[in-house]
Amino acid sequence: MNDPSPPLERALVALRDSASDLPEHVVEQLVDRWHRWGPDVLDGLADVYPDAEELTARVAARVGAAAAARRPALRHRDAQRLLRPDWFQQPDVVGYVAYADRFAGTLRGVADRIGYLRELGVGYLHLMPLLATRTDVDPSAEGGDDGGYAVADYRRVRPHLGTVQDLADLADRLHEAGISLTVDLVLNHVAREHEWAVGARAGDERLSRFFHVFADRTTPAAYERTLPEVFPDFAPGSFTHDPDLLGGRGGWVWTTFNSFQWDLNWANPEVLLEMLGVVLDLANLGVDVLRLDAVAFIWKRMGTDCQGQPEVHAIVQALRAATRVAAPSVVFKAEAIVAPDRLTAYLGTGRRAGRVSDLAYHNSFMVQLWSALATGRADLARQSLTGRPPKPVGTAWATYVRCHDDIGWAVDDADAAAVGLSGWAHRSFLSAFYSGRYPGSFARGLVFQHNPATGDARISGSAAALAGLAAALEHDSAEEVDLALGRLFLLHAAVYGFGGVPLLYSGDELAHLGDPHWAAEPGHAADNRWVHRPRMDWALAEQRHDPATVPGRVFAGLRHLAAVRAGLPSLHAAVESVPLDVGNDAVLALLRRHAAGTLVQLYNVSSAWQRVPAGRVRAAGLQRLWEHVSGFAPHTEPGASGDELAVPPYAAWWLGERDEERPPGGRAAGRRGVAGARVRQDAVP
Ligand code: GLC
Repeated sequence: MNDPSPPLERALVALRDSASDLPEHVVEQLVDRWHRWGPDVLDGLADVYPDAEELTARVAARVGAAAAARRPALRHRDAQRLLRPDWFQQPDVVGYVAYADRFAGTLRGVADRIGYLRELGVGYLHLMPLLATRTDVDPSAEGGDDGGYAVADYRRVRPHLGTVQDLADLADRLHEAGISLTVDLVLNHVAREHEWAVGARAGDERLSRFFHVFADRTTPAAYERTLPEVFPDFAPGSFTHDPDLLGGRGGWVWTTFNSFQWDLNWANPEVLLEMLGVVLDLANLGVDVLRLDAVAFIWKRMGTDCQGQPEVHAIVQALRAATRVAAPSVVFKAEAIVAPDRLTAYLGTGRRAGRVSDLAYHNSFMVQLWSALATGRADLARQSLTGRPPKPVGTAWATYVRCHDDIGWAVDDADAAAVGLSGWAHRSFLSAFYSGRYPGSFARGLVFQHNPATGDARISGSAAALAGLAAALEHDSAEEVDLALGRLFLLHAAVYGFGGVPLLYSGDELAHLGDPHWAAEPGHAADNRWVHRPRMDWALAEQRHDPATVPGRVFAGLRHLAAVRAGLPSLHAAVESVPLDVGNDAVLALLRRHAAGTLVQLYNVSSAWQRVPAGRVRAAGLQRLWEHVSGFAPHTEPGASGDELAVPPYAAWWLGERDEERPPGGRAAGRRGVAGARVRQDAVP
């Protein structure tokens, strides 16, 4: 190892000082970790802050203090996770996402539902924002709290959910059950009721510098020339006038999202230090994964869209490395819903490869799945996945069918053109299709944030409503129900099969259709994302073991997928899923090459049988085929292109090499098939 640089050595002194209460052998571990990750701290900070050396020492002091305050149980967890740093890449981890109150009332209530989560194979629980929001500190605050993303106090849990101690207790209970806890960390903004914003409004100059404040509209207008609007409908523009700012003269403050969410000025190193403190405190409560909310937006640069600027990645690198020293079991997940070609940077590219976040949402794959189901074609999905840079091997995608947010149609114009589509027209089609306006559409979603200026529109809706279940029930058609459940199964199989952490949004495991009364709740009427954040319907959940019911069919399918997945080491996230051209555009084919075995996944995104030349699958490296999801050996038939596989409507096949000992006929359960659609997966039409 090279000798550490003088600034890193100086920082080490600060680290040792602040951790001096710890036993010497624990301090030694801390020092080793500083040698490992300190350079990443300094390197990240040096790319952003003029006085990075001094700042690194201040960071080190905070890290030492946090390490000294860490509970023994969490230190033990650190040691365990250092032995298994790839835990989140393992195929036995399935994620579940819910609002604690909507799922189980309170944090204590969540602990009582651990058994339910384990039934689904959940090993990762993302509890939606649970820190005190503006409406908690001021119940009369108008406009709500953006689903918890307008945080007023990072050191208090929302009172109706419980206390900070309840959160720590829940983390312990989850850990005992083999579940990692994810919480949101809103980095980009605080509520205007947060003490920093309150102070800025009261004339505190130091706190004013925590925000981007402008005396008049000149600079904001210059920025706005290149800024897209996030909420053009209910929060147009990116700046808000506040009469109290600048000593009562009034000023404009940067508010990318709602007017009550004030963007932090990360160019101010005090902001970095304060937020690092928040990160470390959450880590010390037992949080395993921090979801970096809206991280793309934290750095502003004139003339750009102010998303994903290089400083964003440098700052996250520094924060992550500092966190690793104090709490090495903690990982970062980037919430960056950006264009496909800008996504991998959040996991690190170039010299930052593998040094930024550990996880990032694969929103493009999600969008492509919905697009494929709407068109019955997989060529655009294949195109979009082709040639994407590989992610760093130690990282993983968070894959999902949908989340608590709307679906924005992140279809790249060049990808669309490559398959003969206009990007703009296709995006409009998808909005028309998923809102149910398009003739013959099976979907029943709602249009979110239609922007008349650009024609953009996004979609809200539960997975089941978007996949056709609501329409099927409207039409009272058992056949349509089968098709809808087939689509739902395919979507989930694709996200469970991609590699990474598949995230199940609460309610989707029961094919919940969404909350019809979403608009009636205070502060929600303008924001139809609430339609797909329903309260858990425990009566519906009672049906989950009854295979004659819709919830029973969906729940069983997901349990089965989780079990199959856990048994397939080749689904480890270190390797990529790359698209394969199998000569049939109605079938999305993904190839995974892993030392544990090659997998070719076939997803028939159409409602018709499809034929796939077996030679294409064999050429990818498989000989005696075995379909892992349903458990059978698919047979081939002579066809126009030689031996062909017949793939049923909406089938999801994970093809691998058949072990010698497996009988070609397969298991009985497999022969029945597990997909929602009542078609035999192993039958030929
Ligand atoms: C993220 C959240 C979204 C929220 C926004 C602002 O995108 O997922 O729900 O509105 O950040 O915090």
